[in-house]
Amino acid sequence: MGRQIKTHIRLMIINILILSPSVYAVASQALLGCDDRCGDLQIPYPFGTREGCYLNKNFLITCNTTHFDPPRPFLRTGNIQVTNISISGELQILHFGAKDCYPKNNSLDARRTSATLNLSTFTVSSTKNKFTVIGCDTYAFLSGQIEGQSYRTACVALCDNITTVRDGACSGNGCCQLDIPSGLKGLRYRVRSFDNHTDVFSFNPCGYAFVTEEDKFHFSAAYIRNFPQRQVPVVLDWGISNTTCSTANNKSNCICGPNSMMVNVLPDGSEYRCGCLDGFEGNPYLPRGCQDIDECRDERLNDCKFECVNTKGNYTCNCPEGFKGDGRRGGEGCTRSSKSFVQVIIGVSVGFTVLVIGSTWLYLGYRKWKLIKLKEKFFEENGGLMLQRHLSQWKSSTDTVTIFTQEELDKATNKYDESAVIGKGGYGTVYKGILPDGSVVAIKKSKLVDQSQTSQFINEVIVLSQINHRNVVKLLGCCLETQVPLLVYEFVTNGTLFDHIHDTTKHVPLSWKARLRIALETAGVISYLHSSASTPIIHRDIKTTNILLDDNYNAKVSDFGASKLVPLDQTQLSTMVQGTLGYLDPEYLLTSELTEKSDVYSFGIVLLELITGKKAVSFEGPEAERNLAMYVLCAMKEDRLGEVVEKGMAREGEFEQIKDVGKVARKCLRISGEERPSMKEVVMELEGLRVMAEHEWVDEENLVADGASNIFVVSGSTNVVDDSMKVQVLPLIHDGR
Ligand SMILES: *[C@@H]1O[C@H](CO)[C@@H](O)[C@H](O)[C@H]1NC(C)=O
Ligand SMILES: *[C@@H]1O[C@H](CO)[C@@H](O)[C@H](O)[C@H]1NC(C)=O
Ligand SMILES: *[C@@H]1O[C@H](CO)[C@@H](O)[C@H](O)[C@H]1NC(C)=O
Ligand SMILES: *[C@@H]1O[C@H](CO)[C@@H](O)[C@H](O)[C@H]1NC(C)=O
Ligand SMILES: *[C@@H]1O[C@H](CO)[C@@H](O)[C@H](O)[C@H]1NC(C)=O
Ligand SMILES: *[C@@H]1O[C@H](CO)[C@@H](O)[C@H](O)[C@H]1NC(C)=O
Ligand SMILES: *[C@@H]1O[C@H](CO)[C@@H](O)[C@H](O)[C@H]1NC(C)=O
Ligand SMILES: *[C@@H]1O[C@H](CO)[C@@H](O)[C@H](O)[C@H]1NC(C)=O
Ligand SMILES: *[C@@H]1O[C@H](CO)[C@@H](O)[C@H](O)[C@H]1NC(C)=O
Repeated sequence: MGRQIKTHIRLMIINILILSPSVYAVASQALLGCDDRCGDLQIPYPFGTREGCYLNKNFLITCNTTHFDPPRPFLRTGNIQVTNISISGELQILHFGAKDCYPKNNSLDARRTSATLNLSTFTVSSTKNKFTVIGCDTYAFLSGQIEGQSYRTACVALCDNITTVRDGACSGNGCCQLDIPSGLKGLRYRVRSFDNHTDVFSFNPCGYAFVTEEDKFHFSAAYIRNFPQRQVPVVLDWGISNTTCSTANNKSNCICGPNSMMVNVLPDGSEYRCGCLDGFEGNPYLPRGCQDIDECRDERLNDCKFECVNTKGNYTCNCPEGFKGDGRRGGEGCTRSSKSFVQVIIGVSVGFTVLVIGSTWLYLGYRKWKLIKLKEKFFEENGGLMLQRHLSQWKSSTDTVTIFTQEELDKATNKYDESAVIGKGGYGTVYKGILPDGSVVAIKKSKLVDQSQTSQFINEVIVLSQINHRNVVKLLGCCLETQVPLLVYEFVTNGTLFDHIHDTTKHVPLSWKARLRIALETAGVISYLHSSASTPIIHRDIKTTNILLDDNYNAKVSDFGASKLVPLDQTQLSTMVQGTLGYLDPEYLLTSELTEKSDVYSFGIVLLELITGKKAVSFEGPEAERNLAMYVLCAMKEDRLGEVVEKGMAREGEFEQIKDVGKVARKCLRISGEERPSMKEVVMELEGLRVMAEHEWVDEENLVADGASNIFVVSGSTNVVDDSMKVQVLPLIHDGR
């Protein structure tokens, strides 16, 4: 049992030693100054050829140079030739076998040789050798010692006829083989026959027995007749007995050099070997020990794919810059620096963020592009191109009209907040706005999106861009990139003349003097439009709601949406009838032929309103009073103008002047346009009246009436004349063209 374990351990140890081959022959395996060769044999320390070169006498190799060429090495002083010494602990020798020969049939004199291998310090290798017996009438004994105990075994080889013996088969017929037990020392074998080879003498006169290296022996049937070899190779295991290395625990006495380890050959530690550590090579028994193997020198020794770096006892593989991995063939190899999980996450999220930002940017860009396209579309729809064309024709005026952006006006009106509304009507809404430079403006926003409305806006822009008059509401600019066009005017602070005349709850009644001045200023504007402007303009919608007042009660005529530019070679235009009920020229209504005199008619109505304080058209009160023109003209005919003049307005002595203004109004309201005076004449007449009055009463200007507001009759309705009262009548009579 114990033997088996020991055998097992020895096998293991041998395997370890064999598996660590010294690939590179190191310069010398012998001690310094010692021969390390004898003939073909390399002699490593602890073996040596002379005193001081071997560890002890057991390791003496006698190199016989005198009798042999090449020289022949012998173990110790004996005749055992050594053929190989391996540092891993094996020793190959040539050794004689034993034989038992019969010179003739039935010879009683057998010629026998026995063989002894008396080497107590070396062990017969149990793995490499076999005990072999050859013969057909033969048995042989093998004896020796294992750990001091005597050991014996025997093997029998028989055969009746050589024809039955097979080459290579050693299973008892002509040849017998047995395993060698481990730890066997001190060999001795003897050969005998059962019948003195009597029956087999003809083909088998001898029997043979020997221990030999298994791999080097190949049985042949011919060996039955004659086995030619005198000596056979035997493998011995060698080790160092514990005389120089006391215990396994204290290795300081071991001869094993640096970078080596001690391996017990026998478990009790009485015999050991030295072995180089992994990654080292050389002779571990030498004082300098084992040397580092430069694995990078030979690519068979390393498995680096790219760069190999030798280290003491090992090597490392490096990967090129930017690569990671163990860099080994059959290992991870080298891969492109893979990011850590966190790096991957960061990478992914950065990528994702970039993607999101990118697509958002693209989306916003697309939205902006769409918005710009939309604005361009609106600009076109709103007549922007037409306007640009017109504006470029009157280059001098272009700098007075600014084209605002949507954003500017959004900001100015606080996004068209309800609180910014200063007026509402059929046309749309007017907002009060404050531009970034702090100037206050009125912004008119169209209600309808229909094309005719749009062209009115453009018309107004074009007309106003050519007018520069202190009594005309100044157009500052426009914005055409919105769905509905926006017009930007100077902000006129005091509301409409209509409100001042009719809305007495909000305003103190105007004095006659103020009224006359307003009338004169309005007439001046209309006259200017008709004659002085570069192209004659017919306002077409003169009414009190379109006359605004500033803080000083100066008139500002507004709303040129319906105005017409009259080409110079034409004095009248055939158009769709348009105007406000009550102010509309009846002739124009009938003929739809527009002339400057239509404005004269409308102005006549304004004069009547100023005189009477009544609305142009009223749906209340007695039938006779509903149409202001008819009502006042009737009264004047009957010479009772005094009854219709607004109570409390006029001061003493002013009535004559009112009467004269009434006369001017009457002229303006003549049915036939041709009979009406031109606006220039109206201005002159009014101017004359005013100058006369100033001569008569040198007085400080008093803008509001003296009388208390409750003196005069107030119309119940404070309704602003709405655009619903605007009428559009298709021309009934064509002018024949
Ligand atoms: C060499 O071998 C021969 C024959 O075996 C022997 O006679 C001789 O003494 C040997 N010489 C030495 C130096 O061992
Ligand atoms: C000696 O033995 C070793 C291993 O046992 C072997 O590798 C080597 O080839 C042998 N040398 C000769 C000359 O037989
Ligand atoms: C040897 O002798 C025996 C008897 O002694 C005889 O039977 C046998 O045939 C002989 N063999 C030869 C080869 O002479
Ligand atoms: C073989 O020879 C021996 C003498 O060496 C003799 O004693 C013996 O009887 C012989 N055996 C036979 C079977 O001849
Ligand atoms: C074998 O060695 C022993 C002692 O180790 C010795 O007594 C004996 O005579 C030797 N035998 C031979 C044949 O050398
Ligand atoms: C051996 O066998 C062969 C044929 O098988 C035969 O001729 C021969 O006589 C045999 N020899 C002996 C000794 O029996
Ligand atoms: C090993 O041996 C040395 C010398 O023989 C001795 O000095 C040392 O104490 C020993 N160490 C151990 C652990 O036995
Ligand atoms: C070493 O060998 C000697 C005999 O040579 C023996 O007495 C001793 O016990 C051995 N030591 C060990 C530790 O086996
Ligand atoms: C050499 O290093 C590799 C890893 O680089 C390791 O796997 C191996 O066990 C090492 N060999 C020795 C003998 O240390």
